[in-house]
Parts: sequence; structure tokens; C-alpha cells
Amino acid sequence: MILVTGATGLVGSHLVLHLAEKGRNVSAIYRNQASIGKTEALFKMYDKEHLFANINWIPADINDIPSLEIAFEHIEYVYHCAAKISFDPRDEEKLRKINIEGTANIVNFCLAKNVKKLCFVSSIAALGDLPEYNFNQENGELTPKITDEETDWNPEKPHSDYAISKYGSEMELWRGQQEGLEVVIVNPGIILGAIPKSWNRNEGSFKIITKVAGGLQFYTNGTTGFVGVLDVVKCMTQLMDSDKKGNRYILVSENLSYKNLTTLIAANLNVTPPKKEAKRWMTKLAWRWDWLATNLFLQERNLTKAVAKSLHTKDFYSSAKIEKELNFTFEPIENVISNIAEKY
Ligand SMILES: NC(=O)c1ccc[n+]([C@@H]2O[C@H](COP(=O)([O-])OP(=O)(O)OC[C@H]3O[C@@H](n4cnc5c(N)ncnc54)[C@H](OP(=O)(O)O)[C@@H]3O)[C@@H](O)[C@H]2O)c1
Repeated sequence: MILVTGATGLVGSHLVLHLAEKGRNVSAIYRNQASIGKTEALFKMYDKEHLFANINWIPADINDIPSLEIAFEHIEYVYHCAAKISFDPRDEEKLRKINIEGTANIVNFCLAKNVKKLCFVSSIAALGDLPEYNFNQENGELTPKITDEETDWNPEKPHSDYAISKYGSEMELWRGQQEGLEVVIVNPGIILGAIPKSWNRNEGSFKIITKVAGGLQFYTNGTTGFVGVLDVVKCMTQLMDSDKKGNRYILVSENLSYKNLTTLIAANLNVTPPKKEAKRWMTKLAWRWDWLATNLFLQERNLTKAVAKSLHTKDFYSSAKIEKELNFTFEPIENVISNIAEKY
């Protein structure tokens, strides 16, 4: 039996669907009944509602040991997708509790229950730090530096609380490996995928689709890695079914600027693309205004200092390792966006 955590989120819901399509026996944990409805709606969106009844749902929280004791009964393989994603500095404590302590609990149960293998969804945020460019002394040219699985994490550099929590979660996985557990980690870029209309479309990575659909006017020239959710779950199951262990794998289909991504989304949704460039000083001003508005009007934090900075940073990632080891070909982001637009 397979256990999936985070099965009511973007990655986990696509994963349980993918496993159900393969005819696997899947148990999934949930925190409240309403969230299960989200996964059911996703199965429906893909016309696979008949498979939903095959999932064995168990109420559990990764921070609640007694509930995990029940969830881990008869489990041989675990996919750990549950996490908190937030760039709001006020969520630091929750990020540590859920992402680091929660992952430590999952690792400990895997060890105690002799689970055969654990697959963990980390993030490119947990990878190392490189300067943006290499300077070639001979021709004076700047070439972008490319992050891979070996790039070292630099604790001296500033990181968001989310990045620190994902790095800390990975440490728990490596600790589990030292204690005898077979582990494999994936580090996806920003994950893009279709979600049902009933889901909150103003949170997570889908927010960028919603913003462009609503007539987003500004773009930035920062660059990062993007990947389709269907590729993420395919890579996870292929790694789990293989003899690969003790390794992490970057999952990035393409490195794109936010300008190119938002233009692609706009073209597929038949809306006007963002035409004005938001300069660094503008986003610096915007996050400060957002901080003020949050404190004055007690509203939710939308743009933090870390996010504002990342919108201008040019990061490039290589997925050569998984492409080579699994002979895997990623779906181009243009196709991913076109599929999202079809279901929008
Ligand atoms: N989305 C991205 O762009 C992206 C990129 C790179 C890596 N990742 C990583 O991919 C994984 C999945 O992300 P996602 O986009 O699917 O996130 P998501 O849509 O926000 O889903 C998070 C899931 O975690 C569950 N969860 C949170 N706290 C929990 C707890 N204490 N106990 C049990 N379950 C809990 C949530 O359950 P409820 O429904 O009860 O809230 C939900 O099912 C995460 O590890 C994330 O760090 C995501």
C-alpha cells in the first residue's frame, strides 16, 4: 500500500490520480472533509471521477503523531507532498513546524514501520546559490550560471523562511537515509497545472494565471525554472519504481523570464499581455507599501521583500540529471499553458 501526504493540494491530488490510473492501492491523508472535495473535483475535471472511490482517505495531520500511527498501518511506500508554502514572514513558525518537524515525523514513521522507500517533494528553493553570471576574462562576455543538484547551499546568503524550511526538510530526509531508509528527492521549479474552478485560484502558483487573466499590466525580467505538474508526478512515480535512491533531482522543463511566461499565458487565454516593465525600484516600493497596508489594515501579505527580489533575479536550472537517468523528456511550457488555458 502507498501513502500520499498533501493529496488535497496541487501536486498530491495529481499524484493520487496518476497512481489510481496505474491501478495502485493508495491511501491519502486529509485534515478536513472539505479538502477531499477539492481532490474529487480535480478527478472530475479530468473525467476520472470513477477512480476517486479507489482512494482510501485517512484523517491525519503530519504534526499529529497518534493520527500518523493509524495512517502508517500496512504502508510500504510513501510520497510526502504535504507542506506549507508561504513567503509571509509572519508564517515563519508555521513553516518550521509543518515543513521541518512534519517531515521529521514522516521520516521517523517510515523508519519505525520499515517503509521500503520515501519520495519527498522539495523545491528549487532548497538548492544552492550561485552568482547570476560567469565573467569570461578573455572575451568579456557574461554567461548565465546554471544551478544543478550539486550546487552548495550557502547559509551566509539571505533566504526566505520557506527556502530555509525546505532545506531543513531535506536534512531530515538525509538523516533518515543515514538511519537506513531509502529516499529520493525531487526539486521542482514553479509548478504549473490546471485546477478546478471550485479551488481558490488566488493562491499558490495558479495565482500567476489568475493575475494575467485579470489583465496584469506589469512584468519583470527575472528568470526562473518552470515545470508542468503532470511531469512532476510522472518523475516521482518513475523514480519510486526504479532502483534510484539517495539522490535528488531538479525538475525544470524550461527557464523562462516572467515576461515570457506571462506573455505565453496571455496568448493562450486571449487576453492582453503585460506591457509595462516593473523596475527594481518599483517592486521595492511595492513591497514596502504592502507591508504598511498589511499592518495598517490587517490584510493578507501579497508582496514580501523576498518575493520582490526574486522577481528580478535571473536563476537558471538544469534538469540534465533526471533527463539522462530516466531518459525523461519534459513537456514544453507552451503545451503546459495551453492545457491549463483549455480547462480555465
Ligand atoms: N506549487 C509549486 O509551485 C511548488 C514548487 C516547488 C515545490 N513545491 C512543493 O511541492 C509540494 C506540494 O506543493 P503544492 O503546490 O501541492 O501545495 P498545496 O497545493 O499548497 O498543497 C499543500 C498540501 O499540504 C497539506 N498540508 C499542509 N499542512 C499539513 C499538515 N500539517 N498535515 C497534513 N497535510 C498538510 C495541505 O492540506 P490541506 O488541504 O488540509 O491544507 C495540502 O494537501 C510542497 O512540498 C511544496 O513545497 C511546490
